[in-house]
Amino acid sequence: MLKPLKKAIAVNAVAAMLGGLALTSAVTAGETAGMSAVEKGKKVAVDRRKGNCLACHVMDDGALPGNIGPPLVAMKARFPGKGELRDQIWGATKKNPHSMMPPFGKHGVLTEEEVDVVTEYIHTL
Ligand code: HEC
Repeated sequence: MLKPLKKAIAVNAVAAMLGGLALTSAVTAGETAGMSAVEKGKKVAVDRRKGNCLACHVMDDGALPGNIGPPLVAMKARFPGKGELRDQIWGATKKNPHSMMPPFGKHGVLTEEEVDVVTEYIHTL
């Protein structure tokens, strides 16, 4: 049996861990209330635990971008329709089976809603 104080500390530690987990899904929860789809999309795209697109792409004003993928510029010219852009983000391996780009939707890295808002954001670049 744990003494009451130790028990309280243990309970707090678990609560803190759960709090940390909750944070990772905050992108689609209350924290983003009132934000536009484009703003939400940017948040998901730059989040290192979510899209982490900056690991491979120069993108907007994002800091410390990688260059494994092409810079995400002139997206409307490259993808006139949002559907094709969404396909690329949902499952890059559809177009290129050897793609280095993780199939974010297909592998459940991002939720369908997150793929939607990221598409909205990327389409503005
Ligand atoms: C591990 C590296 C990597 C990550 C992370 C990554 N990509 Fe990519 N991306 C690539 C590569 C490489 C390509 C080039 C095409 C291919 O190989 O599929 C690409 C291509 C693209 C294209 C097509 C660009 C064009 O002009 O044809 C878009 C759009 C894109 N990525 C968006 C994203 C978004 C949005 C994210 C984050 C949610 C992301 N990528 C994360 C590597 C990555």
